[in-house]
Formats: sequence, structure tokens, C-alpha cells
Amino acid sequence: MQALILNPALRGRSLLTLNSFTDEEMAELIDIAVALKARKAAGIRGDLLHRRNIVLIFEKGSTRTRNSCIVAAQDEGGNAQYLGGHETHFGHKESVKDSARVLGRLYDGILFRGFKQQTVVDLAKYSGVPVWNGLTDESHPTQILADLMTLREAFGDIRGRKVVYMGDGRNNVANSLMMGCAKSGVNYVNCTPKELLPDPTLVKRASEIAASHGSTVEVESDPATAVRGANALYTDVWVSMGEEAKTAERLRLLRPYQVNMDLCRATGNLGGELIFLHCLPAFHDDQTEVSKDTGAQEVADDVFEAPFSRVFDEAENRMHTIKALFVSALAQ
Ligand code: CP
Ligand code: NVA
Repeated sequence: MQALILNPALRGRSLLTLNSFTDEEMAELIDIAVALKARKAAGIRGDLLHRRNIVLIFEKGSTRTRNSCIVAAQDEGGNAQYLGGHETHFGHKESVKDSARVLGRLYDGILFRGFKQQTVVDLAKYSGVPVWNGLTDESHPTQILADLMTLREAFGDIRGRKVVYMGDGRNNVANSLMMGCAKSGVNYVNCTPKELLPDPTLVKRASEIAASHGSTVEVESDPATAVRGANALYTDVWVSMGEEAKTAERLRLLRPYQVNMDLCRATGNLGGELIFLHCLPAFHDDQTEVSKDTGAQEVADDVFEAPFSRVFDEAENRMHTIKALFVSALAQ
């Protein structure tokens, strides 16, 4: 069993984007998550978060992130309190700055999911406690810690592997995945139409980080070219939370970017060193209200259900990686 080693340098630390941590620290967080996963599998429930209180402020819906936080805290003797939507005065009757100062007096840590990146920045600035970004319009760093952990479980050393993201090239997951791959020495390709290109400043920064590890970041519009030699195909919904008005346009732009078996074959690695990843929730059949209404399907059902699909390991790893963040920041 991998030993659980906590680095004092990670105490009290916030995660606003993946760049809140050095590349080495980010890898260390994943080491901690691996150790915590083994610890749980061995039946150990510790008390690293004994009497620690964490508040979860959610402006957007969630299944994985919300429940990962609750289970992560409870497994180690802590408490996570969910505050959703307009249940509190947060951001509408009381400013983020004032709310941060109140909640920071009551809680040991804050995990935020919502719209503006500036809100997590302000929470961290004014609360005086660690703040974790559980998704904003711009980034989704806790997701990518789980993705990198899942890649490690599949391949061991992930340096030099190739991850191809297909779809909305400028969304929160695409942005953070690009940075997470760059910081890990994983070759990353963002495959997206020219209408949905990522912010060039972010691409430049990620490319420089990747270069320091001998890897690359590329943006490519042609799916067959992008996926050649891929070890992981990754996709996300075509319409992120808050962008529902853009549904028709996104479907038109992104239908050619669906992850299906033909695309998996085009990697040259199907049946070998290829996995499929998706942050979830995914549209892969007509079993949800939204997929019935819109016909959106970013991944074909046979890929989603294939043996090389690691999406449920990835979902489970959300909990272990969030626990790693909580424990490394707050352990007793
Ligand atoms: N992947 C993810 O963030 O899932 P939830 O929206 O269910 O939290
Ligand atoms: N890009 C998606 C991710 C959901 C986990 C969204 O923001 O809705």
C-alpha cells in the first residue's frame, strides 16, 4: 500500500486553478489521493479531518463534486455542509466579500462551484481559510486531478502519453485539462472547430509549461489528424451549464467531433493502449430529458460502455482527489 505522506507545504493551501500548485505539488496531491484510495480499500477510516467543518457553496448543479466532498469529509471524521442556489444570501443579498468573511469565521475550508472565476479568487482573498474551486465558467481543476489519477492507474508513468480532448475547446474542462496535461508532461491536443478555440494566452502558457517537461500542447480542427496515436480520448458536454441558449449552434458545430468507434479506430490504439475519459454527466443515449430534447450525443453509447471506457473509475477518483486536497490542507 502506498504510504500516506503529507507535505507541510500543502497545509492551508487553496486550489483556484491548477496553477495554485507547482507541477511537483500537483503530482504529490495525486500521490496522496492514491494512498487515500488504498487506505479506504483496506477498510481504514481515519480521523485526519476530525472536527473540521467544510462549506460547499454551489450556484450550479452537481452529482459527483457535491457527493465527493461529503464522502471525503465524512471518511476522515469531518463535516461538509451544502449551501445550494439561493438558500443563503451569498452573492445576491450579501456580497461575496462579506459572505467570505462570515463563512471564514465559521468554517475551516470552502469549496465553491459557480459562474465567475473571480468569486473563488475573492473567497480566497477574504475568507482566511483554504478555498477549492469545484468548477467555474473558466476552469474545473478538481476534475483534472481525478483525470490525471485515472490516467496514472491506466498507464503508470503518464509522461509522454497523448491525451486528445474533443469538443468545446474553450470550456472549463478543456482549459484545466490542457493545464493539467502540460504540468504532467502529457502531450495534449485540443480538437475543436475554429469557432470554439481556446484562449491563445492560456494555450501559450500551457505550451511553455509543457515544453519544460519535453511535451507539447496543440490545437487542431481535424478529428482524424488530432487523434492519431492517442492514448486517451476525452470529451465533455457540448453545452456547459449556463450556456443553454447556445444549444442549437453547439450541436451544429460539434456533431462532427463526436467520440465514436470510427474515431477510436483512427487513433491506431484501439484494442491496445487507448482509454476513454469523460468528466460526466455524459450524453451517450436518449435516457435523459436533455438528450431526448436536443439529440446531443458527444459520445456514442458503444464507446461509453466499452471495456476501455474508464469513466466510472474517473468519477470515483473525484472523491479520492478531493479528499487529498482537504486532508493536505487541513489534516489534524
Ligand atoms: N464532473 C463533475 O463535475 O460532475 P458534477 O457536475 O456531477 O459535479
Ligand atoms: N463543462 C461542463 C462540465 C460539467 C462537469 C459544464 O460546465 O457544465
